[in-house]
Amino acid sequence: MAANTMEELVSLCKRRGFIFQSSDIYGGIKGLYDFGPMGVELKNNLKQSWWKSMVYERDDVEGLDSSILTNPEVLKYSGHEDTFSDPLVDCKSCKNRFREDQLINNSCPTCKSKKLTEPRPFNLMFKTSIGPIDDGTTFSYLRPETAQQIFTNFKNVLDSTNKTLPFGIAQIGKAFRNEITPRNFIFRVREFEQMELEFFVEPSSDERWHKYWVDKRYSWWLEQGIDKKNLKIIEVEKNELSHYSKSTIDLIYKFPHGNEELEGIANRTDFDLGSHTKNQQEFDIKSKVIKNEKSTTKLSFQDLVNKKSFIPFVIEPSAGVERGVLALLNESYKYDEKNSRIILTLKPQLSPIKAAVIPLKRNNEQLVNCAKDIKTKLQTLSLGRVVLENSGNIGKNYRRHDEIGTPMCITVDFETLENQSITVRDRDTMNQKRISIDKITDFYKKYFD
Ligand code: GAP
Repeated sequence: MAANTMEELVSLCKRRGFIFQSSDIYGGIKGLYDFGPMGVELKNNLKQSWWKSMVYERDDVEGLDSSILTNPEVLKYSGHEDTFSDPLVDCKSCKNRFREDQLINNSCPTCKSKKLTEPRPFNLMFKTSIGPIDDGTTFSYLRPETAQQIFTNFKNVLDSTNKTLPFGIAQIGKAFRNEITPRNFIFRVREFEQMELEFFVEPSSDERWHKYWVDKRYSWWLEQGIDKKNLKIIEVEKNELSHYSKSTIDLIYKFPHGNEELEGIANRTDFDLGSHTKNQQEFDIKSKVIKNEKSTTKLSFQDLVNKKSFIPFVIEPSAGVERGVLALLNESYKYDEKNSRIILTLKPQLSPIKAAVIPLKRNNEQLVNCAKDIKTKLQTLSLGRVVLENSGNIGKNYRRHDEIGTPMCITVDFETLENQSITVRDRDTMNQKRISIDKITDFYKKYFD
């Protein structure tokens, strides 16, 4: 059973240090959140799992970490300056602002008034000035998607890695959107992270690869612990496609507030490379690109067999890290009525803390030293964070670690000093058993098999 309400998740996130409102002590800013000690671990684990599956386990993908501040020319030729906007409507009665699709029966969702302005486009990109003089002429954008610098680096990566088609470039990083109405906790925010792959293919093979990536990404989310019944594959209507897309498939997750997009897998055709390339007229570009006389580089691929250069098509799986975290929290949040406890049944690979080592008595040097040794031993296995809980209250520690999803707790007590045995407690079953200290490494590793 997933969480019933968003409030339950928000409350857990604050109480246990997953997510806080940003600049909270000054009243916060809408649509901005900070990830606390548990949140940063969960987020990192999710990103690592994505990187492992998209880069390390493949030989046809390379990684990239490009700048956030982006030359305006990039976002001019990508089409974002002209088209990356939402229709904005003002309520003349209560003065609130909304995206047009948030109106309820053509009325203001706050005061129900029908006195509304005509919708007008509101560009979602944030601008900032570059250099010491802020006269509006030397500005850059904070990237609205990580994808664009992948396209502008296409030739750099191709030339420096000797890749051949099909191949991809993967990137995880921040993206910024000046959302008109950020909402639903971390679902729609103004600063977030994306995990994006641009996978370059021969033009005629685009549909086959599109299907391949939809299947691959769907399975990956199930492997992270998302239940099949909560994840749907839906094709985006033609009239709702982004300006660059020939076809997009969304993975729609059942969030606490409703069914919404977790990840989109788009067939971006040759639009992006075609729009950013030099000498566009030399190529048989299939999409309707923006005329470009500024680019200094041909973003083409040369087929060594027939010596023909062409602009590859691109398939793009693009997932939001925050939406992934929210889906995983929702999916793993359970109230165990029998034992009156909340648990996060996260996969051990994703759990913020992998094991907690707890000395029974806080000030007992022998117990604490033994616990420290176990912590160090497990930590050196590099499977994630292991903590020493030195507060002495076993019951409270178990409760806390259930709520943050720690798969196992290890207790060191007076019997340990006599016979070198420790108690291990499993998060999900609450089963406890005594094992010998020299068995702990193998026991711990089994959680990650
Ligand atoms: N490069 C393609 C692209 O950016 P998108 O559908 O606009 O496509 C991709 O965004 C993913 O980024 C979404 O599926 C979602 O997970 C995440 N995302 C987009 N806007 C977001 C926002 N305001 N807050 C949180 N995540 C967002």
